[in-house]
Amino acid sequence: MRKIEIATSAVLFKDVSELSSEDKMLMDKAVEARKKAYAPYSKFNVGAALLLENNEIVLGNNQENAAYPSGMCAERVAIWKAGSEFPGVKILKLAITASSTIKEVSKPVGPCGACRQSLSEYEIKQKQSFEVLFMGEVGEIVKTDSLLSLLPFSFDSSYL
Ligand code: THU
Repeated sequence: MRKIEIATSAVLFKDVSELSSEDKMLMDKAVEARKKAYAPYSKFNVGAALLLENNEIVLGNNQENAAYPSGMCAERVAIWKAGSEFPGVKILKLAITASSTIKEVSKPVGPCGACRQSLSEYEIKQKQSFEVLFMGEVGEIVKTDSLLSLLPFSFDSSYL
């Protein structure tokens, strides 16, 4: 038996004022998307913005459903939009923000496990990592260099 260490690293920003102008612009777009979320059941609004290498910005937000599992997360709405509208165009960056009408969300809200798996497919497909930035409505922002760094031991096509 041998123990292995899986390390990941992230940068933490105090608030949006510490972001680069490009990161701030993308987070502003995620906020724009978040404000159009359809989340009447959870009251938890999530916005996602993808920056593509052709400078297109693709937005997504959570779309809930009365049959709860039939709803979809913001990140997957955005990544599938990008994959369907701009196949073959690389993703450079993803910004995510979440707010709630019930309480203030001040902790950074990372993508859920299912979204990490869905997003990982695109990082592998484009053979290039993309940065991920996430926050609540206010407060700190977490930034990582790569989506796969958020998903150790992920499943990929090599197992098939
Ligand atoms: N949600 C997202 O949009 N992204 C995530 O990564 C986590 C959760 C949404 C799904 C649901 O509409 C609401 O947040 C509460 O779970």
